[in-house]
Amino acid sequence: MDHGEPRRAEKRRRRRRVALCVVAVLLLVIIVAVVLGVTLRKETETNQFQSVFLSRCETFKGNNCQKIWETFQQAYVNRDPCKVPMEAYDPLVTAAPFKPTCNRVMFWSKTKVVVHEFTEKTDCFVTLEDTLLGYVLDGLTWCGKEGSSETFTTDCPVWTDCENNTVSSFWKRVSAAYADIACGNVSAMLNGSIAVPFSPTSIFGSIEVKGLNATRVNSLTVVLVTEEENVTNCTDASLKVLQKELPAGINYGCEEVPESQLQECGSDPQRPCGSCW
Ligand SMILES: *[C@@H]1O[C@H](CO)[C@@H](O)[C@H](O)[C@H]1NC(C)=O
Ligand SMILES: *[C@@H]1O[C@H](CO)[C@@H](O)[C@H](O)[C@H]1NC(C)=O
Ligand SMILES: *[C@@H]1O[C@H](CO)[C@@H](O)[C@H](O)[C@H]1NC(C)=O
Ligand SMILES: *[C@@H]1O[C@H](CO)[C@@H](O)[C@H](O)[C@H]1NC(C)=O
Ligand SMILES: *[C@@H]1O[C@H](CO)[C@@H](O)[C@H](O)[C@H]1NC(C)=O
Ligand SMILES: *[C@@H]1O[C@H](CO)[C@@H](O)[C@H](O)[C@H]1NC(C)=O
Repeated sequence: MDHGEPRRAEKRRRRRRVALCVVAVLLLVIIVAVVLGVTLRKETETNQFQSVFLSRCETFKGNNCQKIWETFQQAYVNRDPCKVPMEAYDPLVTAAPFKPTCNRVMFWSKTKVVVHEFTEKTDCFVTLEDTLLGYVLDGLTWCGKEGSSETFTTDCPVWTDCENNTVSSFWKRVSAAYADIACGNVSAMLNGSIAVPFSPTSIFGSIEVKGLNATRVNSLTVVLVTEEENVTNCTDASLKVLQKELPAGINYGCEEVPESQLQECGSDPQRPCGSCW
């Protein structure tokens, strides 16, 4: 009988100890789950981006896509996403060089959908987005973070947030590389439905036009795409600015081409290149 009280106290103590243990284990499980969850989520962001990168890259034969991916990452990983200058992508351009292209280079500004529909249907002209690096990164967003080896695809600064932005520096660098390999007669598809078809601050105006090398490029032909309601034509003042920006020695031409005509040309595979305007 006199043993009853201590035994009950002993039981209560044991129950309390068990309860404490259960709480501690639960807490531990929660902490591990949270840490694991965060790490896994970040890994997934990197992995998802990497798998898009590699699968797009593999559609071009004869490249070491794994090496191109690693060189690409080195440009921005573990860096402030607003402190990635154009030059950071120099090793990437060396790892996946642009091949010299004569008479087929097509630049564009404010005509993204129409120009790509056209270059896809015909096999005549090549835009930056039809080349390996342009194709792989087209439409994607990416950036790094200081102190992290991951690639992020959300919360990255946008073009207007900072000058040396991870994504805009990439497009500036590859656009310069693409202009540099252009040769012969090059073309540029501009938008005739907007008030100012040529903008000196666009990538086309600030990088590609200035990056043409007159020893290789014979002429630049503007293809001004018009719609029912023509807003501009080849006499537009902004196109005079373009002519002035063009390096000396490169001839200039301009063609007004209705959008419907582009579509007809694009759907006729027999039609020779350039005969659309
Ligand atoms: C961006 O990078 C360039 C080098 O490419 C540098 O000259 C310039 O000062 C940088 N701009 C800013 C705002 O950091
Ligand atoms: C020209 O720009 C307008 C307005 O952004 C757009 O709706 C139209 O599709 C563009 N035209 C071409 C040929 O891309
Ligand atoms: C570029 O066009 C001009 C005139 O249309 C032509 O004489 C010349 O041969 C072309 N250049 C090349 C490299 O095809
Ligand atoms: C054009 O290319 C030639 C030969 O590659 C080179 O020597 C020259 O410096 C280039 N010119 C410009 C303005 O980049
Ligand atoms: C081009 O546009 C200007 C201004 O809208 C107009 O005065 C001119 O007649 C047009 N030229 C042609 C050839 O359509
Ligand atoms: C628009 O421009 C095209 C090509 O120059 C021309 O054929 C068409 O008549 C023009 N339309 C109008 C409404 O000015």
